[in-house]
Amino acid sequence: MKIHPMWADYPTLAPELTATLDLIEGQIKPQNQPVAEALLSMINAGGKLLRPAYCLLFSQFKQVDRKKMIALAAAVESLHTATLVHDDIIDKSATRRGLPTIAAQFGPDVAVYAGDYLFVVCFKLIAHWASDLRSVQQDGASMERLLNGELSQMARRYNQGITIDDYLSQVSGKTGQLFALAAFIGAYESDNSLMFAKTCEKIGMNIGIAFQLLDDILDYTSDVQTMGKPVHEDIRQGVYSAPLILAKQQAPAAFAPYLDKREAATDADLAAVVDLVDRYDGVGAARTLAADYTARALAGLAKLPDQPARATLIKLTEQLLTRKS
Ligand code: IPE
Ligand code: IPE
Ligand code: MG
Ligand code: MG
Repeated sequence: MKIHPMWADYPTLAPELTATLDLIEGQIKPQNQPVAEALLSMINAGGKLLRPAYCLLFSQFKQVDRKKMIALAAAVESLHTATLVHDDIIDKSATRRGLPTIAAQFGPDVAVYAGDYLFVVCFKLIAHWASDLRSVQQDGASMERLLNGELSQMARRYNQGITIDDYLSQVSGKTGQLFALAAFIGAYESDNSLMFAKTCEKIGMNIGIAFQLLDDILDYTSDVQTMGKPVHEDIRQGVYSAPLILAKQQAPAAFAPYLDKREAATDADLAAVVDLVDRYDGVGAARTLAADYTARALAGLAKLPDQPARATLIKLTEQLLTRKS
């Protein structure tokens, strides 16, 4: 199976990521043709595989069974993909990874079941390969916090009083948790102490927050072709992210007439909001924040044992701060 081209620069990791994706593909055996077809095409559509990559890299500080670590990396990626399938129903998104979303192509029923199926794949892999119940508990706690991040985002839709701290708390749930889980499982399941795994979990959280900040920046600076998913939809749906929140702090009254229209905002209103974000340099302020979270992650990584895995973790984490898609 072909993996995302970014991994050509990571020759020792690439074969393990290919094995991870092959393993996930082999797990897709639902008793329903549209669910199978939908899942296989999404899995083959070139996701970046960042969470399994971090899981595998954090597992490289000790010599362990690579087959087990690949299976656990597959569990983490299955969980991530499940959340994307369901997220695209909630967000009414037309495209994902450059293809029509499962919901758009097959309808919400198939999409709900397809997402559920991926949760099953995740549970089965973790239950089979985890060395003890600690990773299973971590998985449950992460999923709960991820859901709470999403619920908090939903509760604050169209709320112009949202602060950057509210946003960061949402993001640490909806995105930080999965990176934190990937780091924890990689470290813990490769025979490291719980304390070491907890340290890696914190680093993963900072990587995940920086990653979501970049995603929200690209929502303003990139386009649907490059991203493979819609841009600017967040504003329309009342999900206010870092560039908007930080720009709006400068001039709340300038934004209010457009944001007050909520669902009734026209394309021209949305274009006006995008212009205001540009005028008050919301993207620049969000970049500063992303650089800050990346710096925290790098400071954590610098304290890990001086092994090749550490250098690769640093290289990947720096690369993500300047990503364009
Ligand atoms: C998308 O994550 C969801 C966010 C947290 C922004 P990715 O950008 O890692 O998605 P894929 O797996 O590469 O498609
Ligand atoms: C992705 O959320 C995070 C989860 C699915 C939990 P978003 O809705 O912000 O991400 P994209 O833009 O659809 O990838
Ligand atoms: Mg969403
Ligand atoms: Mg979405």
